[in-house]
Amino acid sequence: MIGRFTARLITAATVLLSAAAAADGPLNVLCSPQIEWCRLMVATFEKETGIVVSVARKSSGESLAQIRAEAHNPVVDVWWGGTGDSHLQAAAEGLTTPYTPSSFNDLLGWATNMSEISGGRSVGVYAGAIGIGYNEDLLKARGLTAPKCWTDLADPSFRGHIQIADPNYSGTAYTALATIVQVFGENEAIKLLRAIGKNVITYPKSGRDPIIAAARGKTTIAVTFQHDMVAEAVAGYPIKIVTPCEGTGYEIGAVSIVKGARNPEAARKWVEFSLRPDIQSLAGTARAFQVPSHSKAVVPIEAPDLATIKLIDYDFKTFGSPAMRNHLLSRWSKEVKE
Ligand code: F6P
Repeated sequence: MIGRFTARLITAATVLLSAAAAADGPLNVLCSPQIEWCRLMVATFEKETGIVVSVARKSSGESLAQIRAEAHNPVVDVWWGGTGDSHLQAAAEGLTTPYTPSSFNDLLGWATNMSEISGGRSVGVYAGAIGIGYNEDLLKARGLTAPKCWTDLADPSFRGHIQIADPNYSGTAYTALATIVQVFGENEAIKLLRAIGKNVITYPKSGRDPIIAAARGKTTIAVTFQHDMVAEAVAGYPIKIVTPCEGTGYEIGAVSIVKGARNPEAARKWVEFSLRPDIQSLAGTARAFQVPSHSKAVVPIEAPDLATIKLIDYDFKTFGSPAMRNHLLSRWSKEVKE
């Protein structure tokens, strides 16, 4: 008797649970940070909420292009990570929707700044500085001198030895482009990038690929975020990290909910989850060494210390605006990439 009653209860609970799950998912997440971190986030979120997640890793510019292409019939619910400039462009194009997370007052200033610039449509999840990384063994074997400044990258001795991603796809490469423009002024920057371009062997789509290539001896020098360089160094590769002498820019990795998302409730849950200090503190276990945005999250000891890096006063608002972003990408495509 008791057995049959319990079985009925279990059946009823299962029906209720699956109804809740159906209403809440599957959640479609577009993920732009390291794939290892994306996988860790999905596994932890699924375990905690029971909501099934479908995830794809795409570079920042590629993610923006997908969300724009799907604007009339959104497939993606939430876009997590990737450089703030592409989130700001999505916000300005009306592709994302405002949401204020409950942890807002505990987030660091640069994270809430992203929310202010985007009209509440994006908020910062992590930060990281751009830099120059090189394979020390290869550099020595080739008799090259380590670069110290952005201008050094144009030295003819580096012909065929540099990789940086294509900024049309990669937020890393767009951050480098916008940084060099802010350091040198637009025309000088394009001139310098053309000269550096003579030394660039390939422009991959993903921002992190150049340092993966440098670590494995496939190129000598890479321009990427410094935390991606640290990940290779921690894995035992002979990677050295340089902050360019003229100063460097940084990213605010962001999260945004897609306008018209089919699973808005689950998308909000994801945003809340990804801004929690305990969840942000897990990043280091996936070798993601960005600086987390929640003031109480544990910063991995390996994370580059932004306070000791010579950072420029990066203008997120201007360089994340569609007009400037489209303008610089068009100049880069016409005048730099050959
Ligand atoms: O690899 C992680 C990371 O550097 C993030 O910090 C950053 O937001 C993202 O990659 C950018 O990737 P992409 O350059 O491919 O857009």
